[in-house]
Amino acid sequence: MHGMTGPFTVRHYESIGSTNDEAWRLARDGAPHGSVVHADEQTAGRGRFSRSWFSPPGNLYLSIVLRLDVPPARMSELSFVAGIAVAETAAVLLPKRTRPQLKWPNDVLVEGAKISGILLESDADVAILGIGLNVLEAPKSGAYRTTTIAANGGLASVDSARDILLARLAEALGLWQRDGFTAVREAWLGWSYPIGETIRISVSGAAREGKFAGLDETGALLLETEAGIERHVTGDVALRG
Ligand code: BTN
Repeated sequence: MHGMTGPFTVRHYESIGSTNDEAWRLARDGAPHGSVVHADEQTAGRGRFSRSWFSPPGNLYLSIVLRLDVPPARMSELSFVAGIAVAETAAVLLPKRTRPQLKWPNDVLVEGAKISGILLESDADVAILGIGLNVLEAPKSGAYRTTTIAANGGLASVDSARDILLARLAEALGLWQRDGFTAVREAWLGWSYPIGETIRISVSGAAREGKFAGLDETGALLLETEAGIERHVTGDVALRG
């Protein structure tokens, strides 16, 4: 099934290994910018750091082929663009009193539990943006707490979540193209934990604790420690408390 949603053309699959893998396959066959792979379930969903992504029916799994004229060094900006779009989507679907929060680099949390994951992969002039959003189902085990739209009293069908997400993504991409990363960073910070919050970042086993000091002009995390400001480009952030 194919459908148009704004600048996006959606291909729908009942079951697939990974929507990112299928999007790569389509991109290699010349699929244009804005081609979207949407699956009801994944049998080999992938997360960051080669983790697997829990992907039963009931959640949103999609990947988008992006062909944007962006130098490799600026590619990671797109994951912040995606984070904004997902946070806005969750805010629309959740009850008004519940505010989603972005955790660097691009986790979306609700009451401290992870509700979405973003996997951005790129090669030369193509980027594949994979997004998972827990609508009905959350994995029970794991290293961190997880949640769903439904568990927070939100109301959504997977298809409505998809349409809202694609519309927000089109807007966020427009912001990025028009106003650049400075505007994206500002919007991102509007959804993140406050500057000054105590956080801990684990980078390949080693943990550093300090106060969140914002993002630099490339999206790197700034951590204020007793020794001064540290800049981190990768890692897992934990919020204290
Ligand atoms: C993370 O580790 O937080 C990122 C998870 C990304 C999951 C999504 S689901 C749709 C797309 N296809 C995949 O195989 N992974 C991404």
